[in-house]
Amino acid sequence: MGIKLALVGLGAFGSGFAPLFTSHPLVDSVILCDAEAEKVEKHASDPVIAPKVAGKMLSLDEVCKSDCDAVVIMTQPWLHAPQCIQVLESGKWVYSAVPVISLPDDNEVLDWCSKIIETVERTGNEYMLGETTIYRPQTMFCRRMAQQGLFGDFVYAESEYAHDVDRFECSLRSVAAQRTTGKIGQMRKELMAPYFARGFKLHPMCYPTHSVSGVVDVMRCKPLSVSAIGYANRNNDPFFANYDYSNITALFRMDNGCAVRVSEMREISGNTGLDDEDFRIFGTRGSYSLNRWCDNGRTAPTPERKENKETMVTAEEMRDPLPPEVTAAFSDAMSRKEGKVKDFLATGHGGSHPYLVHEFISSVAERRRPRISAWDAAMYMAMGVAAHESAVKEGESVKVIDFGKKWD
Ligand SMILES: NC(=O)c1ccc[n+]([C@@H]2O[C@H](COP(=O)([O-])OP(=O)(O)OC[C@H]3O[C@@H](n4cnc5c(N)ncnc54)[C@H](O)[C@@H]3O)[C@@H](O)[C@H]2O)c1
Repeated sequence: MGIKLALVGLGAFGSGFAPLFTSHPLVDSVILCDAEAEKVEKHASDPVIAPKVAGKMLSLDEVCKSDCDAVVIMTQPWLHAPQCIQVLESGKWVYSAVPVISLPDDNEVLDWCSKIIETVERTGNEYMLGETTIYRPQTMFCRRMAQQGLFGDFVYAESEYAHDVDRFECSLRSVAAQRTTGKIGQMRKELMAPYFARGFKLHPMCYPTHSVSGVVDVMRCKPLSVSAIGYANRNNDPFFANYDYSNITALFRMDNGCAVRVSEMREISGNTGLDDEDFRIFGTRGSYSLNRWCDNGRTAPTPERKENKETMVTAEEMRDPLPPEVTAAFSDAMSRKEGKVKDFLATGHGGSHPYLVHEFISSVAERRRPRISAWDAAMYMAMGVAAHESAVKEGESVKVIDFGKKWD
């Protein structure tokens, strides 16, 4: 028998994932859940989703009492961790949109990470973080190159998430306005007020996952310590009223000896010459930068000079294949949605969405730990928290808490 899945949070982001999760061939039926009934009804009448709808619910409590096998949490970012723990405690596996939780109190964020790990260990139910960077084409490609040892020793990597508050196609002002309206969203002000009253501030490292995850996943290493510099908004922009920094740039020392520069930026002009969300990784032998692989062919000490050989790689060449029955199911769903035959297209945040869906559903079906586990998720948050602490301490070196992630 296939999987019965519940989709909780059918807002802007959840709406894009709902048809993909529903049409995965291992998913038999879905429960649709949102506190706003009209969102549930809209998805229940979607031609791709309708044939598999097994329930329509308005609260997470109802979902946890249901007989579903797993739950996808796509709710506002300040709600994720307690909701995921509630799901795990109810005997189901859980997928969470990023980050683990977004709150101004960094110590509380780390506490939530510990609680999720403890709940996974105690219940045996698994947690997966839906970090899109892990399935961007460059991450898949570099992972394969790293597995073959083609980087040599990793010496330097750099990575950034440069999402300016007024980015043309995704203004953070509009996103914040949308997430703080509606039945659940409007409660944020009340929830945050005590934090701000106690002097806690938001910062870009509250959302560190896009910049830190790719490089650590490729290198399969752990962060040891960090020194960071913060930039604080200088023109009293109301968006940053509760932020201490609008940008943070951090230099991490990793346990493989590599130096990693990470930037989370919410106040930066365009035209950096780079993608807003990307990384570059350099080894003693091979390197990846801007869709280019470079190999100097130096496998052993040699008196001869070796030439660097550069190869351009396309996104399609960089991606791992998905099982044909999965791409067929996704193409069929998109064809039904659009009323014409569509070939499979890897879509959403660098084409990562179908891969995230497939990874979570297969982990539930195979009862195995998902690729982006509670330990990975906690490591990403620990890097953000340590970077922020260092920025506050004017660049002092700060140790990164180790949640015990083991690479297999
Ligand atoms: N690249 C990425 O990985 C990426 C990109 C965008 C958004 N996200 C994440 O996706 C999440 C959702 O973002 P969004 O823009 O769709 O938000 P949204 O505000 O549009 O949607 C959230 C929905 O969750 C519902 N909800 C919240 N708590 C609920 C509960 N207890 N029971 C039922 N429904 C509940 C709300 O009613 C709302 O409809 C965020 O956490 C965000 O961080 C990730």
